[in-house]
Amino acid sequence: MLDLSVVRSTLSDHYDLTPSPELASEMQDIYARMDRVVTPPDFAIYAPYIKAINALKKERNAVILGHNYMTPEIFHGVSDFVGDSLQLAMKASEVEADVIVQAGVHFMAETSKILSPEKTVLMPDMEAGCSLAESITADGIEEMRAKYPGAPVVSYVNTTAEVKAASDICCTSSNAVQIVNAMESDTVIMTPDQYLAQNVANEADKNVVYWPGSCIVHEQYTAKDLRDFREWNPGTRLIAHPECPPDVVAEADFSGSTSGILKYVTDEKPEKAMLITECSMASNIADELPEVDFVGPCNMCPYMKKITLEKILYVLHTMEGQVEVDPAVAEKARLSVQAMIDLSKKLGL
Ligand code: 13P
Ligand code: SF4
Repeated sequence: MLDLSVVRSTLSDHYDLTPSPELASEMQDIYARMDRVVTPPDFAIYAPYIKAINALKKERNAVILGHNYMTPEIFHGVSDFVGDSLQLAMKASEVEADVIVQAGVHFMAETSKILSPEKTVLMPDMEAGCSLAESITADGIEEMRAKYPGAPVVSYVNTTAEVKAASDICCTSSNAVQIVNAMESDTVIMTPDQYLAQNVANEADKNVVYWPGSCIVHEQYTAKDLRDFREWNPGTRLIAHPECPPDVVAEADFSGSTSGILKYVTDEKPEKAMLITECSMASNIADELPEVDFVGPCNMCPYMKKITLEKILYVLHTMEGQVEVDPAVAEKARLSVQAMIDLSKKLGL
């Protein structure tokens, strides 16, 4: 477990991280990307970290891959590439750098390591897990195979390397329907997200059977929440992530992966939008879309929120937090991830 007192004393020995309104005003180009959601005093706190991280990235030939659920100061301040799980996996396989810092959760860092074994992949906090990834092991995959002989296993990327290695192909929320439809068998096993699987089953031409995992962020929404919200806030567009239960998705105006949500809001520019997903999603796109009023409650992912500027600076400075995957497991897991990437490219996704 990362000891924050060690992190802080190490950093204060090497960097001046005192909040600085002067430095913040020199970094207005970066601040402009988040000024609707980050206050000037907060940016004065972040500015020394952002400056130090961006300088250290050059020194280490490092890139930061930032998921859409990172906080705005990470998303806009230090990330070189941002996106959903599929976009980040694709970027990890292409990017030319010696070091990848994964500003996201552990399964994303493992995916980057699987795709780029020669690179150093740094995880700012190893405890940034995921309730879905924790819900199933490779034994669970074998259990499903025994129950549904011959059915292919499509595993969400929100899984460990061992689970990916035991699966036939991976999927993300942006390609799940197409991947499932591309399977030859009539019955397809989906793991570990029961709700994504049920939402896919509603759109795909297959008999989808699934593992009972769930995302602790998206399972909290109910269809009644959405109906109430619509009644109290007429004219608001409700946009849900497919990790939400199917009755929630049915109440929404649109459902898609985090990049699908961004595309929908960018194309449609609704006057008012409520994103039925993690809180940072709306914050990260608010400045790009000033005409959209993002309203309503959101749910915070406690795993994603373990990643902070301070921890990113610490791992880049010390090169601690290196993600390793057993080479034999990585080789098999790579086949499942690469199969997904190849099929997604072939389908133009
Ligand atoms: P996407 O970014 O692929 O939509 O996934 C969301 C998610 O839950 C990542 O943890
Ligand atoms: Fe996992 Fe849900 Fe958090 Fe994504 S939002 S990392 S699926 S717990």
